[in-house]
Amino acid sequence: MDLKFTNLGGHMAVAVDGVDFRQPPSEELGATLRQALWDNQVLCIRGQNLETAEYLRAIQIFGEPEIRPEIPHVEGFPAVTTLSSEDRDVHGDGKRLVAGANWHSDDTFMARPSALTALYGIVVPEVGGDTQYANMYAAYEALAEERRAYLDTLRVVHTMKPARGGLVRSRSIAPEILAARPPSTHPLVRTHPETGRKALYVSRNRMDRIVGMEREESHRLIDDLVGHAIQPEFTYRHKWQQGDIVIWDNRCLMHKANGDYPEGARRFMKRIIVAGEVPV
Ligand code: SIN
Repeated sequence: MDLKFTNLGGHMAVAVDGVDFRQPPSEELGATLRQALWDNQVLCIRGQNLETAEYLRAIQIFGEPEIRPEIPHVEGFPAVTTLSSEDRDVHGDGKRLVAGANWHSDDTFMARPSALTALYGIVVPEVGGDTQYANMYAAYEALAEERRAYLDTLRVVHTMKPARGGLVRSRSIAPEILAARPPSTHPLVRTHPETGRKALYVSRNRMDRIVGMEREESHRLIDDLVGHAIQPEFTYRHKWQQGDIVIWDNRCLMHKANGDYPEGARRFMKRIIVAGEVPV
């Protein structure tokens, strides 16, 4: 298989042409793509035209897909959830919903938060609907040594119900789902299990408080880190092409959806979340 890699964001994100996931991926292809992801944090596999089962099979080269019962999924494929411009907040006010419009890392409220997320662009708008990424290795490494040493000592309580509801509209969650997800406590700086590099581990909406600190002070510190991490030198903005599968690493990135496409324009994505480990 002839693969062509193209750097997308300068300091992060790479695209690969020449992959055809209609064929079962070989061990060698899996190893090459995983390495490209560890090296670049965001991997875009171009030009795919897949059945849902082929998509699911392909993503298994990166790990074990996870089931999230509260998110709409493709019929018969509970691990393949959907994100659509037609989504409405069915447990809330019924209005249009742009999932993930706040800077975040996926599912940090879980004891073992998702390692990776794959998003497959089935219908992408001509204008808007980009996904943005912030490189949390680079953001951490740019901090002064003393500040890094302090942040290394902190742990944060994460909750599924948005700790700071006013930040952005998000999907309302059924009470029985919330009851099944107790808060989790994670380090503010985590070490990536594949690369050994340290990264800030931040998901503003889910971060209730830093252990041993008042909420207000916790939120100020977290906001300060978010402001630092989303500076242009640490970020990449992905403009979708139809048929892109973008895979990103939640253990060293924040990301953000943009609902800025015109009213009536369609955006439809199939998403697979890959299980992770306890952050350390
Ligand atoms: C997400 O936050 O997982 C969704 C990103 C997007 O739709 O661009």
